[in-house]
Amino acid sequence: MTIERNFDIPLIASLALKEKQIQQNYRPIIAVHKWFARRPGTLFRGLVLSEFSDEPLSETFFNSNNFPNKTIADPFMGGGTPLIEANRVGCDVLGFDINPMSAWIVREEVERLDLSAYEKASRSLIQCLKNEIGGFYRTDCLLYGDTGVPVKYFLWVKVLQCERCDKDMDLFPGYLLAQNRRHPSNVIICPQCGELNEKESLHPLGQCKSCRAPLRLEGPAKRNRCACPHCGHINTYPRPSDGPPRHRLFAMEYHNARRKSEHSGRFFKKPDQGDLARFAAAGKRWRELEPLFVPDQEILPGDESDRLHRWGYTKYQDLFNDRQLLGLELGCRLIRATNNERVQRALATNLSDLLRYQNMLCRYDAMALKSLDIFSVHGFPVGLIQCESNMIGIANGSGAPVGSGGWKNIIEKYTKAKKYCDMPFETRQKNGHKVILPVRGEWIGEQNNGGPKRRVQIKCISSTRAEIPEQSLDAVFTDPPYFGNVQYAELMDFCYVWLRRLVGESFDGFHQKSTRSPDELTGNETQKRGIQHFAEGLSSVYQRMARALKPGAPLAFTFHHNKMEAYHAVGVAILDAGLVCSSTIPCPAEMGGSIHIHGTGSSIIDTVFVCRVHGTIKRRLLFQAPSELIGLVQDDLVHLTAAGMKPSAGDIRCIVYGHVTRMGIWSLRNQWNTKEPISERLKKFTHAVSSMGNLQDIIRNIAGKPFEQNLLIAEQHQRYEIEDDDAVSF
Ligand SMILES: C[S@@+](CC[C@H](N)C(=O)[O-])C[C@H]1O[C@@H](n2cnc3c(N)ncnc32)[C@H](O)[C@@H]1O
Repeated sequence: MTIERNFDIPLIASLALKEKQIQQNYRPIIAVHKWFARRPGTLFRGLVLSEFSDEPLSETFFNSNNFPNKTIADPFMGGGTPLIEANRVGCDVLGFDINPMSAWIVREEVERLDLSAYEKASRSLIQCLKNEIGGFYRTDCLLYGDTGVPVKYFLWVKVLQCERCDKDMDLFPGYLLAQNRRHPSNVIICPQCGELNEKESLHPLGQCKSCRAPLRLEGPAKRNRCACPHCGHINTYPRPSDGPPRHRLFAMEYHNARRKSEHSGRFFKKPDQGDLARFAAAGKRWRELEPLFVPDQEILPGDESDRLHRWGYTKYQDLFNDRQLLGLELGCRLIRATNNERVQRALATNLSDLLRYQNMLCRYDAMALKSLDIFSVHGFPVGLIQCESNMIGIANGSGAPVGSGGWKNIIEKYTKAKKYCDMPFETRQKNGHKVILPVRGEWIGEQNNGGPKRRVQIKCISSTRAEIPEQSLDAVFTDPPYFGNVQYAELMDFCYVWLRRLVGESFDGFHQKSTRSPDELTGNETQKRGIQHFAEGLSSVYQRMARALKPGAPLAFTFHHNKMEAYHAVGVAILDAGLVCSSTIPCPAEMGGSIHIHGTGSSIIDTVFVCRVHGTIKRRLLFQAPSELIGLVQDDLVHLTAAGMKPSAGDIRCIVYGHVTRMGIWSLRNQWNTKEPISERLKKFTHAVSSMGNLQDIIRNIAGKPFEQNLLIAEQHQRYEIEDDDAVSF
């Protein structure tokens, strides 16, 4: 067995940490289409190589590898990270996911594409769209008198009708449109006349340059209440009975390439009559169309989608404004008219991915001055200010996209992703600089230049029903759902309803109206899926995978959750499958600054559970007392620190949970009875873990010490320890 021996925590952790800062630069393939909670490709490359090669990982990682006789499965493939990494090094792969969007996306990633045909078709699509709707994304630059310059972003505020006086009010939570980080000044909206005021300093704010009203930062809308500026009545929102919220265009950011050199910063403006007329004209054009592709599907209830219902959204099309619906409908028509079927599928994938920027739930980042797409958090939060991106996209003089969220951006990313399939690379730091190392000889796909074929089997089914021949797999590498953290199906339905309408129902899983399934292994209150459902499902999948593994082959998977309860389910599933966990490896797998992690106390560390039916485990991993557990965690901290990380209390918690789960499995393995009811099995596992000591005390003990002290203790501990290769067989 080799992951346990060969895996290099500092190397992989440092690569994974960098990858998660800008994953697209390290693994451009992820840009084929959004998927949630993608783990680092570098981590799975590290796992595959350390299992199948005995060379040091520091060498194999940057060189070309080929394991043509290995077969790998992933029962929870999502966006396909483990599968792609295994396919890239020559393995045959077998992937399952319950969500039809996952199967679609992974097939898109793997399937060869004639890039020149794609480039031609995408150029033509953009040109046609430009001719049809380009004028709706233009404005006049009042600063320099230039006409018809492209708009980057339109900014909209939600509007509410006063219950008492019937007049409309803007639901501004604040009046600061842009901070002075990426722009030389702060941009403040006048509460009185809506003029945009550029202010170097926020203290004092002074008066509006147009109407002289005093400027302020705080807006009237707070905690679902807003005082009517006309009559003072306190109104509450949202008001679902009024239907979907209405919006008012209050600002725009545009791009004036001609004046870029003489102008410092961005170009903002309050919309003028022409801008309002352009939007009205787009709306008229939309209403005159007989839509063929805009889905009319209802939004089903769910933990995440109920938020949309609370705001009065009932259909998916309610989430878009008229200009967006017009552009998307026309885009779909152009895609359907494309002759080349493969290219048609690629463009349909692009449209599905484009949707996340082309809807009225996108927010505006007032600091970074860009659009935040609907999936920038794993949910459907409804803001008061929404950002509409230019649907076509803008290119600068050298052809690179300006701003985000348009066709040009999506096509550029997709092209890079497909090029990467033919020429994958790794990125290394040399003297503080990033160096791109092409890995010649590796490629992603089923066949390259007429050479031997690699098998790629992708199935849209619940892995609780996966049929794989016994003892046929050399490894299972996966990343299961993390209990209730991400509602994959509820979120992906947003894209799926469009894609299905566009491409039809004949693709794997596309007969379903929604991607939701009672068998999805996520906790979900609406669907009444709790920890028992998760534990039973995971157990059934792992049992199937364990039977399919060759003797001694690994099932390795990543996991993290803030609650120990989720790890109980993991422990039960591993025991049910007759597996033993021979190692728990910490690895950064999220970006600390990402919106859904930052400031939440969540961990960015995953534990990789390496499990086998037979094998050996290092004796020193079999801790008895809390002090020994603390020692193991401190060792992990040394490795992570060497990788350039400073683990947080949340990270320490996840590392502890990983070790105690591993140890719980070890202690129960000989007396485990899979016939007992799931509630009993969960109880037994909970009991085994709680007998290891008070975990919160252990976590506090480690997290409460100055960081350097933990490292010092671990280093002393390692210095005095005799090289301990003593192993226990199982
Ligand atoms: C954490 S994600 C995998 C992410 C993936 N590794 C990636 O890099 O994008 C977990 C996946 O499990 C899938 N899933 C949930 N329940 C399932 C089931 N019963 N059978 C198969 N897949 C399931 C979800 O649809 C989701 O794609």
